[in-house]
Amino acid sequence: MAIASSPSSLHSSLHSHSKTSITPRHSFSSSQGFVKILSRSDFCAVGRVCAGPLRFHANPIKVSASAAPVMDKPDSRVSTVVDVDLGTRSYPIYIGPGLLDEPDLLQRHVHGKRVLVVTNTTISPLYLDKVTKALTHGNESISVESVILPDGEQYKNMETLMKVFDKAIETRLDRRCTFVALGGGVIGDMCGFAAAAFLRGVNFIQIPTTLMAMVDSSVGGKTGINHPLGKNLIGAFYQPQCVLVDTDTLNTLPDRELASGIAEVVKYGLIRDAAFFEWLEKNMPALLARDPSALSYAIKRSCENKAEVVSLDEKESGLRATLNLGHTFGHAIETGAGYGQWLHGEAVAAGMVMAVDMSCRLGWIDETIRKRTLDILQQANLPITPPNMMTVDKFKNTIAVDKKVADGLLRLILLKGPLGNCVFTGDYDRNALDETLRAFCKS
Ligand SMILES: NC(=O)c1ccc[n+]([C@@H]2O[C@H](COP(=O)([O-])OP(=O)(O)OC[C@H]3O[C@@H](n4cnc5c(N)ncnc54)[C@H](O)[C@@H]3O)[C@@H](O)[C@H]2O)c1
Ligand SMILES: [Zn+2]
Repeated sequence: MAIASSPSSLHSSLHSHSKTSITPRHSFSSSQGFVKILSRSDFCAVGRVCAGPLRFHANPIKVSASAAPVMDKPDSRVSTVVDVDLGTRSYPIYIGPGLLDEPDLLQRHVHGKRVLVVTNTTISPLYLDKVTKALTHGNESISVESVILPDGEQYKNMETLMKVFDKAIETRLDRRCTFVALGGGVIGDMCGFAAAAFLRGVNFIQIPTTLMAMVDSSVGGKTGINHPLGKNLIGAFYQPQCVLVDTDTLNTLPDRELASGIAEVVKYGLIRDAAFFEWLEKNMPALLARDPSALSYAIKRSCENKAEVVSLDEKESGLRATLNLGHTFGHAIETGAGYGQWLHGEAVAAGMVMAVDMSCRLGWIDETIRKRTLDILQQANLPITPPNMMTVDKFKNTIAVDKKVADGLLRLILLKGPLGNCVFTGDYDRNALDETLRAFCKS
């Protein structure tokens, strides 16, 4: 059975913490509705007095990506909230600059009085103090422990995970503690898995600091670690209390990591949001130049797309798998090249090109989509072919343990129809897969 994903305009309720009516600092009309972006002063108007985010019901807002301009003079103090709607496990994603300077925002989601911040050797000198201050400011009863892990995908394993449990047990954390993931996707995935498993589940907050983590890995509750034979094979679905995206943290992110995150942003356009893809084609230079409003918009739109998919299919019975466009090939590249050699987004970029190539060979998409995919990824300085060491056999061996193999049948996410449409299916001509592998491998 193939599961199809079609583009949809999203209903996104931006909401403010203020009970009073709000004059938006920016609003712009679109063909489908209008978007209000709230200023930070609106965003945190009542702080801790407000037990939880109060919806600003003026508009359940439809967002049209193509209508969103990159503002001439970006207002760096603009914030947005995207909801992940999962019933009792729903949570907000706060997006904006300077959010780590808003202690109330973080503290309202801390349960209990004890916090364990999980981070790494690169991020701790940059942001650990700031986060500790945000967690404790005005609230001396909160105590913060931290565990600083080695940095790198190659450490996303059981041995490193044990360091988190060691710290939690040595410092006698109990069920009422909160784990905070401070870092990129590696830290988020490991900390989330540790939170899911420690005492069978403790509270958990995501503070993503890479674009990859902001637009993808911190949202949706997939957590886990790698096994030497395959990526992310051990893990759990576990949702955080909130995701706090302080876009200022991107200022220290290396260019290569920024580009890696852009690969996942492009993915949303390809699989379900043609208007966003078009916006990206126009605004890629602004993203690469780290224009704050372009970045905020791309993060918001990506989170909205992911949140909608996750709320429809939290445990990946079908639709959610479409978020893995290019990932079967990409994971093979990451595993084949050795963890940490190719960045996740780089591998996904080359993997998406392969998936798009295969979709083209099957006659499911127009050649122009293939061309536009290559162009946009090249514009973002991302690779469009796998490394030379990837042979057809290497791909086939790694693909065999992919999580999307069911009853021996490899299901793939492939594009089908106009831009922004894809299917998750095992029903395709095997020759097309072989042809794609041969076209992209030297042997
Ligand atoms: N759970 C999910 O749904 C999901 C989705 C996508 C990716 N992932 C996982 O995410 C991981 C990749 O995440 P990533 O790309 O964030 O890699 P990463 O976590 O390794 O971070 C990349 C590098 O940037 C450094 N860094 C992080 N923030 C920084 C900052 N603000 N300034 C300077 N340096 C900073 C990190 O220390 C690291 O060296 C992979 O393991 C992938 O499997 C998970
Ligand atoms: Zn990914």
